[in-house]
Amino acid sequence: MERRLGKFRADTLYEGDALTLLPEVPPGSVDLIVTDPPFAIDFKAKRLNYNRSGKNVLDGYQEIPEAEYNEFTRCWISEAARILSPTGSMYIFSGWNRLRDILEGIDAAGLTTINHLIWKYQFGVYTKRKYVTSHYHILFVVRDPKQYTFNKIDHYPEDVWVINREYWKGKKKTPTKLPAELVKKILLYSSNPGDLVLDPFLGSGTVAAVARAEGRHFLGFEVVPEYCNFARAQVSQKTGQL
Ligand SMILES: C[S@@+](CC[C@H](N)C(=O)[O-])C[C@H]1O[C@@H](n2cnc3c(N)ncnc32)[C@H](O)[C@@H]1O
Repeated sequence: MERRLGKFRADTLYEGDALTLLPEVPPGSVDLIVTDPPFAIDFKAKRLNYNRSGKNVLDGYQEIPEAEYNEFTRCWISEAARILSPTGSMYIFSGWNRLRDILEGIDAAGLTTINHLIWKYQFGVYTKRKYVTSHYHILFVVRDPKQYTFNKIDHYPEDVWVINREYWKGKKKTPTKLPAELVKKILLYSSNPGDLVLDPFLGSGTVAAVARAEGRHFLGFEVVPEYCNFARAQVSQKTGQL
């Protein structure tokens, strides 16, 4: 049976600005949000991010101007808090440079931080006069610290995750794809089959594709038309690399 969330259909990806679309999602309707929002940095996606030839990286990556980033972050996180179910949770990815804005947005929205996870990946950008960054922050936050989904799938679930970035040799990709393995781990810990998982900043659509593969419902937004189409293609693939 088709599942609806106000004007949206579950298991569908929508092209558009998350700041416009999130307010149209009904309150309390989303079980889990997993998202890697834009960063507000001078983002040289092609040259730096996959550290290899840029010819397979899709153009059009949408950044937020630095001066607007704090307000942008507060807006989308407060909407995210509104649409989370009473037992809902959210995982927000952030580089260290804009972490302050994300933490302020979480506090302003009245969410509770359960863990501050570190994702360590296998390569960073070559540097001469500073350390190479090869980690990301993941804020695990909930609406209600007394009741939230947490399936303890490991006996000793540590807060540092070492997971390699994927090499998509010779394949098209968006500049900052999350590894499917990482997204799957989050979904298994913090959602159950049949739950609704949202990513308001889809990029290549990894969150939606893994949600589908794991029997969760999904919803997603992406402002760049080419990325949204790429994400739709990822989601409709039955097999292959997510
Ligand atoms: C860091 S990437 C997400 C990467 C994604 N997790 C993946 O695995 O590919 C952030 C995405 O947000 C998109 N974006 C930026 N501003 C947006 C907005 N206002 N609404 C929706 N999407 C936006 C960018 O175009 C970019 O694709």
